[in-house]
Amino acid sequence: MPLLSLEGLVVRYGEIEALHGVSISIEAGEVVTLLGANGAGKSTTLRAISGLLKPAGGDIQFEGKSIAALAPEAIVKLGIAHVPEGRRLFPGLTARENIMLGASNRGRVAKAQLVRESDEMFDLFPDIRPFADTLGWMLSGGQQQMVAVARGLMAKPRLLLLDEPSLGLAPVIVQKVFSIIAEIRRRGTTVLLVEQNARMALSVADRGYVLETGRLAVSGKPAELWSNDEVRAAYLGGRIEKAG
Ligand SMILES: Nc1ncnc2c1ncn2[C@@H]1O[C@H](COP(=O)(O)OP(=O)(O)O)[C@@H](O)[C@H]1O
Ligand SMILES: [Mg+2]
Repeated sequence: MPLLSLEGLVVRYGEIEALHGVSISIEAGEVVTLLGANGAGKSTTLRAISGLLKPAGGDIQFEGKSIAALAPEAIVKLGIAHVPEGRRLFPGLTARENIMLGASNRGRVAKAQLVRESDEMFDLFPDIRPFADTLGWMLSGGQQQMVAVARGLMAKPRLLLLDEPSLGLAPVIVQKVFSIIAEIRRRGTTVLLVEQNARMALSVADRGYVLETGRLAVSGKPAELWSNDEVRAAYLGGRIEKAG
């Protein structure tokens, strides 16, 4: 049984249908990337999985049970954490406070325990440890992204949804964010990674799907996607170099 499966998912914003029947499945332990141009429906897919948008058709199953009608709080309690596009930190809280808030789905956890766990996050993201007490608004884009991913991990998710973690970051920081994704996977967390940076995403993913205006265009293993000239030219930015 897949950990997550989308079956003919249809999502609308009022009159506008953004997803026209998308089917995706993710096995436990995989990193799966969802690629596609701006406006293809990638963020919409993640918002539907995390319950922020309700499907107009089709189904979303987590471990074989439909979660399509559940509220976002119930979905995060099941173990699905969403790191949204644009990071969305609390600007007036410190990095550590933002990170600790990620545990709010787990009920009452002692403050000392939260501090210990946030220290573990600083082990995983040593670059932000010096900024533990820095307010969110003062952090750089890359630091904010690392805090946002750490906050997602504090939920102890079984499935982590990452929406364009590399967006707007300098190449050296993008490298760091992707090496953290590889580490998250090594620790056994399943990841659905939305990206426009196809080359980087396919370098860490087990499989990829490409969305084109609300429909799946193609899917496969990274090597299969890269070895298809048409797919590469149409969907992966036309780059010639191989992933990894
Ligand atoms: N809040 C919204 N209201 C209306 N249309 C939206 C809204 N958010 C996204 N859309 C539309 O849905 C489609 C998919 O958007 P989105 O999921 O954000 O794409 P992506 O994340 O792949 O860039 C686009 O046509 C976009 O204009
Ligand atoms: Mg998006």
